[in-house]
Amino acid sequence: MARVLVTRSLPEGGLEVLTRAGHEIVQVAEPLSHAELVAVAPTFDAIVCLLFDPLDAEVLEAGVAGRLRVVGTVAVGHDNIDVAAAHRLGVAVCNTPGVLDDSTADLAFLLVLAAARRASEAEADLRDDHWEGGRFDTYYGVDVHGAVLGVVGLGRIGQAVARRAAGFGMEVIHHTRRDTGITGWTPALDDLLARSDIVTLHVPLTDETRLLIDARRLALMKPTAVLVNTARGLVVDEEALAIALEEGRLFAAGIDVYQREPEVHPRLRAAPHTTLLPHIGSATWATRLRMTELACEGVVAVLAGRRPPNLVTP
Ligand code: GLV
Repeated sequence: MARVLVTRSLPEGGLEVLTRAGHEIVQVAEPLSHAELVAVAPTFDAIVCLLFDPLDAEVLEAGVAGRLRVVGTVAVGHDNIDVAAAHRLGVAVCNTPGVLDDSTADLAFLLVLAAARRASEAEADLRDDHWEGGRFDTYYGVDVHGAVLGVVGLGRIGQAVARRAAGFGMEVIHHTRRDTGITGWTPALDDLLARSDIVTLHVPLTDETRLLIDARRLALMKPTAVLVNTARGLVVDEEALAIALEEGRLFAAGIDVYQREPEVHPRLRAAPHTTLLPHIGSATWATRLRMTELACEGVVAVLAGRRPPNLVTP
């Protein structure tokens, strides 16, 4: 029997994967700080965490000095974990690929529509009793149907968004580093930004994608364009985005992820034409349950000496 630390509240049904395999679950009432993670990591065989938990080299080194063997993160992105250190130390890392693509693509499309049509602003006015009846010339937005959608990163989620775009009669172009061989590929991100009416980001956070959409690249976008980010906050320079929106150099933004969650840059919060959501891309009952199960299945496999399909470490 292994001891498994579960760092956050997770769907109970998903954790049954661990108890069915005979493991002991230890759940903490409050999220652990970095120092607390360092202190407790050696006393666990496995950690099931979320993307808010900083599992850096220090935590992992402390863990392997004790009994830590595997980390299962209930997320597809694993930028909160030092995967290179985990590999060096022999700690397996598992994530949740493939099970949240459609839910996240649905939410990206919600943001495309809400931002392009100024839904948040219009709804806030209605709720605040600021709906001026009888007017024809308010809340003008941009059309989604027929627009050029620029998909940055054509992994599973990017592809799921592209499939949805087909239903809206959009022209889809995409940028990835390697040629996908699919119609609409462009080798130059700058070219995609200049041509797109709506840009949606689907890249993981890595050294190459950190602040990928900076002030220079935002300036390449059309003043009527919409930017949607459901990937990671640090892919976009939030302050530069807020300034572009304030100055009307970019029409709108739909954002689900932020540089310092749960903080939202005050300028972005105040910028016009934004729909801002609190990182809920995968937040449906079915998807969050399946994510929990998958992360736990990976942990159970590693503890049993098997190689799970969702292994991130090489
Ligand atoms: C969510 O952001 C995830 O990486 O799963």
